[in-house]
Amino acid sequence: MDACENELAPLPLKIQDNTFRDGHQSIFATRMRTEDMIPIAERMDEVGFWAIEVWGGATFDTMHRFLAEDPWERPRALKRYIKKTPFSMLLRGQNLVGYRHYADDVVNAFVDKACEIGIDIFRIFDALNDLRNVESSLKRVKKNGKYAEGAICYSLTGKHLGGDVYTLEYYVAKCRDLEAMGADSICIKDMAGLLSPYDAYNLVRALKEVLAVPLHLHTHYTSGMASMTYLKAIEAGVDIVDTCIAPFAMRSSMPALEPLLVTLQDTPRDPHLDISFLLNLGKYLEKMAAKYRPFKASNKVSVLDEGVLVHQIPGGMISNLVSQLKDMKALDRLDEVYDEIPATRRDLGNPPLVTPISQIIGAQAVMNVLFGKYKMVTNQLKDLVYGLYGKTPSPVDPELQKKILKNYRRGRTPITGRPADYLGPELDEMRAKIGPLAKNDEDLLTYVLYPQTGEQFLKWKYGLEPKPDAVKARTIDDIKGP
Ligand code: CO
Repeated sequence: MDACENELAPLPLKIQDNTFRDGHQSIFATRMRTEDMIPIAERMDEVGFWAIEVWGGATFDTMHRFLAEDPWERPRALKRYIKKTPFSMLLRGQNLVGYRHYADDVVNAFVDKACEIGIDIFRIFDALNDLRNVESSLKRVKKNGKYAEGAICYSLTGKHLGGDVYTLEYYVAKCRDLEAMGADSICIKDMAGLLSPYDAYNLVRALKEVLAVPLHLHTHYTSGMASMTYLKAIEAGVDIVDTCIAPFAMRSSMPALEPLLVTLQDTPRDPHLDISFLLNLGKYLEKMAAKYRPFKASNKVSVLDEGVLVHQIPGGMISNLVSQLKDMKALDRLDEVYDEIPATRRDLGNPPLVTPISQIIGAQAVMNVLFGKYKMVTNQLKDLVYGLYGKTPSPVDPELQKKILKNYRRGRTPITGRPADYLGPELDEMRAKIGPLAKNDEDLLTYVLYPQTGEQFLKWKYGLEPKPDAVKARTIDDIKGP
């Protein structure tokens, strides 16, 4: 046995496919329709994936808002063709598939319904890594007899693991806490592609030493490191990784599965999946995806966001900043905003830059640059400082906290408990509000999660209002016309 083989853990690597979820979310603005998944669904079931991810926050949002598809129908429809491979979904803890914390009665009803329509594995995370926000959904998943994967958002304050917040010890402690809460596996969720190969090696090594449950790694290709990161993580013994089939891989999506298979062939970690079979699936995806091309970012030649290596600002956040600055006719200040973001983030307790926190930090950094530091503050920032999103990884600057909460409607003293404990039950009140337009619990939940666009969707669904052309359109070109 040579040195390299020595490092390999004995079990074959397991693969979770993300073509039907994060793949088209990352590359085609989440626009892929269920009808385009069905033609290869039966064959996807034959590949031998550990799981296929089919659902998440952006999926739910885009489907009802832009595709006029009932989000609840997708897992149900795919389940008719994919009978062996478990379905996974990404769940934002107490945020479910929305953008704020919901009361526990909503969380329970949502998880029950998601189990009923065919979700088997729930990857649950919280944007602040505050595990109190993961508690309710994790418990409910277990109560339903389904698989709960606890996820920690990977974040940094420098270019590498370390510094005073996101240390190796931080991640080890958080993952152990998730395991103690009953998680069936643990996932490191690297949404911006920040995890570098040697950090991945050290992190996986440390986690494998203390965890009894499987370890799963999710990363994005964005910065260009992801394939190297997977290889080092595999050498260190990671159990499961997320990939996409080639046409839906790379760029800001996951690494592709095909090159990984050849890399691991005849090693102890060989997943033993049939690459020729995958090439055939890739052919279908390549042909089918052509119509989604208008949704693909085409403003640059590079397939990488190599700037992320330095400023660490995720791609989605950059496009938000650019459109905000454009609206304010201040696009020339973008570099100043890049410089301001780390300072704003530090002031506010170094949260991971993930939805919805990344938008809050980004919007504040823009205002700090344009109007002076904290001269203007958004309501969401007040909510964050007040503790409504949970506990930030490091404390918010106390002087700043006082200043921001000076005229805050809820009070000046931040809450310190689990945010959902401050929320009363919501379902009955919302049921009364929507009335007969919600014909079942799925409709009701769509409305609770998205009061405006959800109600609009229900009107389309039941033919009370015609769908506008923009929603009927299959691609952007259809909207623009010939
Ligand atoms: Co992702």
